[in-house]
Amino acid sequence: MLGISGTATTLLLLILGATVRADEPTTEEQMAANLGMSKFLVHFSRFACPESPSTGDKAECVAYGYQPVTDAFAKNEFPPIWVPVAGVSNDTEGYQKFLSINGSVPNIAPKGVNGVPTPNLAYDAAKDPDCWWTNTQCVTPKHDGVKADIADVPEPKTLGYGFDDGPYCGHNEFYNFLTSKGQKATMFYIGSNVVDGPLQAQRAVKDGHELCVHTWAHPSMTALTNEQVFGELWYTIKAIKLVTGVTPTCWRPPRGDADDRVRFIAQSLGLDTIMWKYDSFDWEQGTNGVTPADVQNNYNKLINDAKSGVLNSRGAILLTHELSNYTMQTAVDNYPKLVEAFDYIVPVGVAYNKTNPYAETSVTQPSFAQFAAAHGGPPAPSGSASSSPKSASGSPPAPSASGVKLDNSNSTKANNHSGAVTVRLQLPATILAFVGLAMTFAV
Ligand SMILES: *[C@@H]1O[C@H](CO)[C@@H](O)[C@H](O)[C@H]1NC(C)=O
Ligand SMILES: *[C@@H]1O[C@H](CO)[C@@H](O)[C@H](O)[C@H]1NC(C)=O
Ligand SMILES: *[C@@H]1O[C@H](CO)[C@@H](O)[C@H](O)[C@H]1NC(C)=O
Ligand SMILES: *[C@@H]1O[C@H](CO)[C@@H](O)[C@H](O)[C@H]1NC(C)=O
Ligand SMILES: *[C@@H]1O[C@H](CO)[C@@H](O)[C@H](O)[C@H]1NC(C)=O
Ligand SMILES: *[C@@H]1O[C@H](CO)[C@@H](O)[C@H](O)[C@H]1NC(C)=O
Ligand SMILES: [Zn+2]
Repeated sequence: MLGISGTATTLLLLILGATVRADEPTTEEQMAANLGMSKFLVHFSRFACPESPSTGDKAECVAYGYQPVTDAFAKNEFPPIWVPVAGVSNDTEGYQKFLSINGSVPNIAPKGVNGVPTPNLAYDAAKDPDCWWTNTQCVTPKHDGVKADIADVPEPKTLGYGFDDGPYCGHNEFYNFLTSKGQKATMFYIGSNVVDGPLQAQRAVKDGHELCVHTWAHPSMTALTNEQVFGELWYTIKAIKLVTGVTPTCWRPPRGDADDRVRFIAQSLGLDTIMWKYDSFDWEQGTNGVTPADVQNNYNKLINDAKSGVLNSRGAILLTHELSNYTMQTAVDNYPKLVEAFDYIVPVGVAYNKTNPYAETSVTQPSFAQFAAAHGGPPAPSGSASSSPKSASGSPPAPSASGVKLDNSNSTKANNHSGAVTVRLQLPATILAFVGLAMTFAV
């Protein structure tokens, strides 16, 4: 979700423009102007998290300044937020790295412009020469040297648990819930949200979740040039590194929109591509006629498959979102049912024994065997029906957070604005719905 086409952006700016009051303090606007950002984007903060909990936790959605991010923007180290990255030619390190890989990228033409797909693009779906997921759900590349996607997990009756589109400013109740269950997940973060919610992003690492990249501005990646694809990933990696101290090694394409060209660029940046096989469509609730009952049916499909043995030889990955109170609360409501249906619920990397989820070795997570041992027994041998005791409570070996730079681990704290401004942008549901109308593809 959150794909912003040029048209939608224009419309958004129109909507927001109408809401700016002339008599409001202008500090943020002036600072944003100094940073070359639109004041309208700053004023998105007025709408931050309309659904944020009314239970005394609202402070988490008040805009705050975070000095390392403010300083980086002042030095033009990041592109404008929520705009598909134009390129990396101003970034010496990034551009050198890009040029070093560009000659090896599979020769596939972009399938659109600036992140907006070309409507009705001619494509031979039968041959599927580019392994274009959007068209064919292909996850096994056609080009040599391109790593296959991860779309499920090899362990039986195991769920690779994850959430897209964070960090959401109002996620504390949700993260509190996960922590109360000893549950870790894979969080696919949008770079524009990371610089907006750096303390929220820090919390994910501190809580032991596995952070992956979900691009800078959530465009359709096959509709970008090689340099733009690189930039979307490069700046999100850089943002996560800046605020959490770790370098992610996995990513998920918005709307699943990947082909071999995009996959190759991602893998050149050290990123595994993680897709899914079950989709909750939770992001779509309230739009396009999608109801909570529809979303529950999607959850039920996964739950019933797990219960009826469909996932007894390989486990699953479900697409869900850290996007609104609704999507998070739906995850909370379904958690007990998932615990009942699955033997193990783990971050995707744990199901792949990825004990070092980041380039740095300072943060670790358990192997699958270690996780299983801490949750009631050894894993069942792959391929056989599992009879392991199920339990998702209790704690796996704690990930070591030593060496992680956490300047302020209390992500409920809202800094005051006098020192600096971090541009805050969390798209409210009404506007999300509106953007949805302008989108060609879902998710
Ligand atoms: C969603 O909002 C309701 C009402 O404010 C609140 O009680 C609930 O805890 C929130 N859920 C999450 C996951 O934040
Ligand atoms: C590079 O910087 C110039 C000057 O700040 C700017 O006009 C241009 O858009 C930037 N190019 C990219 C690709 O970001
Ligand atoms: C990267 O490669 C593409 C495809 O060969 C080419 O069109 C583009 O000009 C290259 N970019 C740069 C900056 O060299
Ligand atoms: C993870 O490690 C276990 C042994 O502990 C092995 O059986 C399993 O195949 C490994 N999984 C992967 C994806 O390599
Ligand atoms: C986090 O910050 C909030 C708001 O400043 C404060 O009320 C709360 O006590 C802090 N919690 C911790 C654990 O420091
Ligand atoms: C806000 O921050 C500034 C500088 O960081 C500090 O001088 C001021 O006392 C703070 N105000 C409040 C209300 O905390
Ligand atoms: Zn997304």
